[in-house]
Formats: sequence, C-alpha cells, structure tokens
Amino acid sequence: MSSYTPMSHYYDTIMTSGYYNYEIIANSILNYMSARKILEIGCGTGLILEKLAHMQVFDTIVGVDLTEEMLAIAEKRLHLFSHVKLSLQNIIDLSLPEEYDLAFSYGGVWYFVIDGDREPFLVSHLVSDVDNHQGFARLTKHIRPQGKLLLGIQGPHFDYNKVVSNGMVYSQKISPSQRGFIKDYYLLNGSEIMMQQTLHYSTYSFAEAQELLETYGFKYKPAETTNKLFLEFEKL
Ligand SMILES: C[S@@+](CC[C@H](N)C(=O)[O-])C[C@H]1O[C@@H](n2cnc3c(N)ncnc32)[C@H](O)[C@@H]1O
Repeated sequence: MSSYTPMSHYYDTIMTSGYYNYEIIANSILNYMSARKILEIGCGTGLILEKLAHMQVFDTIVGVDLTEEMLAIAEKRLHLFSHVKLSLQNIIDLSLPEEYDLAFSYGGVWYFVIDGDREPFLVSHLVSDVDNHQGFARLTKHIRPQGKLLLGIQGPHFDYNKVVSNGMVYSQKISPSQRGFIKDYYLLNGSEIMMQQTLHYSTYSFAEAQELLETYGFKYKPAETTNKLFLEFEKL
C-alpha cells in the first residue's frame, strides 16, 4: 500500500518549495465551475482543497486519502470550511454516501506523465492490476453520468537533490520495476536522514489506460482548451 506516513510531517515543506504550484492547479479546476460537488482522490494534506475551499465556488468538496497522518494535517488545515469534508479511505474500497459531478487526482492515486513528444502514460499508486480495476470500479460508482474525471499531468520523473524552504535537502531516486518504477524519497539535514520513504508505482501505456478507464465508463475527452494540467475523462 502507498502510505505516505514517513513523509507526512515534511510533506508541506517539500511540496510548497516548488514541487507543485497549488494556485495554478486549483485555478485549472475552476474551469469546471459548473460542477457543484467535487471529490479529490488522494488529497494528502489538503493543499489543493484549501485553495478550492477559499474560492467559494463549489457547494461540496470532499477529499479522500488512505494515509491517516496526511489526512490529520488536512483536517487541521480545513476545519473552518463547512463545505469541505475529509474521509480516510483507500480508493479500492471507496464508499461515500453521494455521487459527484467531478473527481480529480493531481499526484494522488492516479496521474499521467508526459515525456516530451511521447504519448502520456498512466502512473498509479496501486501496484497490482486487480487493485487498479477495483479502484476504478469503486470510483465510477461515485461519479454521476456525464460527470468528469480529471487526472493530473506531470513531467518525467528523474533523480535530483534540492534545498527546500527549511534548509534541508530533498532527494528522489527513480529505479525501474517489473510493473512500473520505484521512487525513493529522502530528506537530509546535513548527513542526517530526517525522512525516507519508498513507493512502488505501476504504469500503463496510454492505450492500456484508455482501455482500463473505458471498462469503467470513463471516455477520454481531448481538451478543447489548452489545459496542460489535467487529462479529462467523461463518465458515460
Ligand atoms: C503525492 S500525494 C498528493 C497529495 C495531494 N493531491 C497534493 O497535491 O498535495 C499522494 C497521496 O495519494 C494518497 N494515496 C495513495 N494511494 C492511495 C489509495 N489507494 N487510496 C487513497 N489515497 C491514496 C497518499 O496517501 C498521498 O497522500
């Protein structure tokens, strides 16, 4: 299971030191402002949800995540927003009492990587094929017909070290695996390792991803505008 427990304490520091631009991500979701109820799958510490909550555009905003420590930080961040709800859930058992107009994942359970001119490929925090099927099977039950699924787009992953805002060095190393790749995350304070986390990811070619998503009623909709942050799928 892709638990972010080791990283949770340092997650915000790492991510807000230029890893993601949360303002731009949230603004990109604003393109779908006709949606009333929205769901983030793999919401982590709630950094995207916070931006969306401040916009006061959506009636109901729900975030789910399987890492208790990440969600505890999100709870603190978002407790003043009565239209935001959080739920500790693994996507493969997703169970919520309502349907959503839109679900999205940016670096959450699933995302796409675009490497130069090559076709996007799907990256999943779920390593087995069975779990990916089960995850989309549960998700589709929570999205209304003609509702949207937005899966974030990221650049290629590579090894690097970078000083983050607390002066520590964030480091990531990527190695190939049978089903995709393995990512080792570190945070170093001088020679002391403050955090270390290893995650296994599976990958699907674009054709495989389309087939997988279509099995659960999600049809790829090439963007009409130049939305470079998400690929859009519509629930049939
Ligand atoms: C890189 S973080 C992204 C968090 C957030 N979307 C953001 O942009 O900061 C990935 C999150 O996905 C969650 N996650 C991974 N696998 C999951 C699963 N099977 N079900 C629910 N959440 C999952 C992890 O716990 C983690 O918090």
